[in-house]
Amino acid sequence: MSATRVTTVTLREMKDRGEKISMLTAYDYPIARLLDEVGVEVILVGDSLAMVGLGYETTLPVTMDEMLHHVRAVSRGVKRALVVADMPFGSFQVSAEEGVRNAARFLKEAGAHAVKLEGGREVKDLTHRLTGIGIPVMGHLGLTPQMVHQFGGFKVQARTAAAAERLVEEALLLEEAGIFSLVLEGIPWQVAEAITEELRIPTIGIGAGSSCDGQVLVTNDLLGLFDDFTPKFVKRYASLKETITAAFAEYHGEVKAGQFPGREHAFRLDEGESRRWEQRLNRRRRTVKTLGRG
Ligand code: KIV
Repeated sequence: MSATRVTTVTLREMKDRGEKISMLTAYDYPIARLLDEVGVEVILVGDSLAMVGLGYETTLPVTMDEMLHHVRAVSRGVKRALVVADMPFGSFQVSAEEGVRNAARFLKEAGAHAVKLEGGREVKDLTHRLTGIGIPVMGHLGLTPQMVHQFGGFKVQARTAAAAERLVEEALLLEEAGIFSLVLEGIPWQVAEAITEELRIPTIGIGAGSSCDGQVLVTNDLLGLFDDFTPKFVKRYASLKETITAAFAEYHGEVKAGQFPGREHAFRLDEGESRRWEQRLNRRRRTVKTLGRG
């Protein structure tokens, strides 16, 4: 595998060649390192952190400071992949100035290479502004989780022909505003296919079928670590919850039974020091016996 950095240009070239793009989420250093070593092209520090890492019911509560903390950890683990930081709810909706300031913090303070913004025409101007000052933007349309309360739940979007056409229009608007790539989440595959055909930039699907130029999943779902609920589009590639639970239970049992740590996990004095230590210990014991502890 080449160590050449993946850039926004690399992704565009991959689309042009018909080569699929692989993207996954990471929230910490060890997972970021593993993803990078495997060759995943894009690592997203998603605001899904709120649900799979911090225990919230939606993505809404995660803050800029929490996101920055995790983006820094991920960036330290990555040598090759493109690191994308998700703009959390409330960090870009209040004003363009605040959106620019927060997006810049991800690149300046946390080592991200790009940011992701949920939304369509309402983020068009901000997207244009960010890309104009050198902050690459990944778009995100469809079942955008920050809209969960507006949608009335995590519901598949663009299910009617009219809604599908509106989505295509929004995708084109975002492309015009300068996004380098577009996440399509929770929409019928026919709509994702049409958008992928119309756009020159690559689409990355999650619950959007196989025609997208790339795919993304939440890593904790793929690993079988998060099972509060499992969307239809998730494929589990491992059952880490079971593996980890078994390891914890075994440790707990061994500690209770005095089986861990064994001799092989302990440090020992070398022979000379051990003899001297025995002598000192015996002296201490004799003194304690004669004088008592007080
Ligand atoms: O927050 C996230 O992990 C995401 C992906 C699911 C695309 O936005």
